[in-house]
Amino acid sequence: MSDTLSHLNLFLELGTSEATRSHPQPLYRRMLEAGEALEVGPQVVALSAEACAWVLRNPELFSSVDAIELGAERPVVPLQVDPPAHHAYRRIIDPLFSRRRMAQRSDEFRERANDLVDRFIDDGEVEFHRAFSEPLPCDFFLRLLGAPTAERAEWTKLKDGIIRPWETDPEHPERVQRETGKRIYERLGALIDAREARRGPDIISELIDAEFEGEKLSRDAILDIGLLFVFAGLDTVTAALDSAFAFLATSPVHREQIYADRALIPGAIEELLRWQTPVYAVPRRATRDTEIKGCPVAHGQTVGVFVGAADVDDRRFPNATEVDFRRNPNRHFAFGYGPHRCLGTHLARLELEIAFEVWHERIAAYEMAPGKEPVFASSVRSCEELALQITPA
Ligand code: HEM
Repeated sequence: MSDTLSHLNLFLELGTSEATRSHPQPLYRRMLEAGEALEVGPQVVALSAEACAWVLRNPELFSSVDAIELGAERPVVPLQVDPPAHHAYRRIIDPLFSRRRMAQRSDEFRERANDLVDRFIDDGEVEFHRAFSEPLPCDFFLRLLGAPTAERAEWTKLKDGIIRPWETDPEHPERVQRETGKRIYERLGALIDAREARRGPDIISELIDAEFEGEKLSRDAILDIGLLFVFAGLDTVTAALDSAFAFLATSPVHREQIYADRALIPGAIEELLRWQTPVYAVPRRATRDTEIKGCPVAHGQTVGVFVGAADVDDRRFPNATEVDFRRNPNRHFAFGYGPHRCLGTHLARLELEIAFEVWHERIAAYEMAPGKEPVFASSVRSCEELALQITPA
């Protein structure tokens, strides 16, 4: 078997093998041993920390425009817009998710986390994904958006139609994405109409009134930002919680460290973001013939930037395969890197911190339910099932 073919097989494992989906780190390490960047089938994958950082900070060479199909009629904003237009959008959107503004909502989030725990605390076991990690960030984000939380099931289905379209129809994933994209535009359009008529304390109202250099956002731009919010805001924190708790539920040593010292929570969150890297790859398209760490890339070729692999690269993270809640520095790639670095980091960190605190305050002990293993979904690393046995505090 040629080298390229064997790499391709390794790479495909990530999509098809449940064992690799649950524990992708050994695969990342094998890929890293093979090279810092490799040609894998039709695309080039960047793997090492240096290779990933270089690709992500050079958008003029590696564009986000048309890098991936997301079912949208126009580029999704700001994810699929390159600088300099990208900067203008970030100047408008970043302040809406500032640390200060997100912190103002922390009591509301804590209250919701406690409400959810109340519902299952006396049951002795809980399916973490459905009972906690999905409703908690999704309801909060829908409220930020100004959509009724009673519509959560519909919105999460729409988000899955973009992120995991092959689960609805394995033969025609792009059709599923296009149809889902249309439905999301319709629903967001209705939200915009309602807020045009009457503003509310929500992000859609703020986007309607936002101005940059005297210009307001067009209705299409608000729809294109809203579409990205639907799958960026409704999947990622759930995935970060699922993958973190899937690890903790199977590692008593690490659980004990958190119970012994709650001040470790922020460090534990960063380290679990690094180790699990829920969004493990981001796409780019080469704007001309070039190379990444000696691996040739052709004009127009797709580059898969494997931030999950970069996050277990010993050259950036000494003893990278050790999960160390005191790791410092910990400049991981879980939120990306360069101009497109995640703009939801303050919201995500606040939500994760409160979720960790409330969980460990209310639940004295937890572990996998007997005979159960975490079942990871395809694509962004959330769990389809995470059955836990719990003891109330
Ligand atoms: C732990 C949770 C999260 C993770 C792991 C995560 C991860 C990422 C990553 C890796 C990127 C870079 C994409 C690229 O370079 O192509 C990104 C971008 C983005 N994220 Fe997040 N994200 C999280 C939470 C959120 C939340 C809660 C929001 C809600 C507003 C959000 C909104 C965005 C947006 C709008 C972008 C595009 C930024 C741009 O293109 O300039 N993210 N995120």
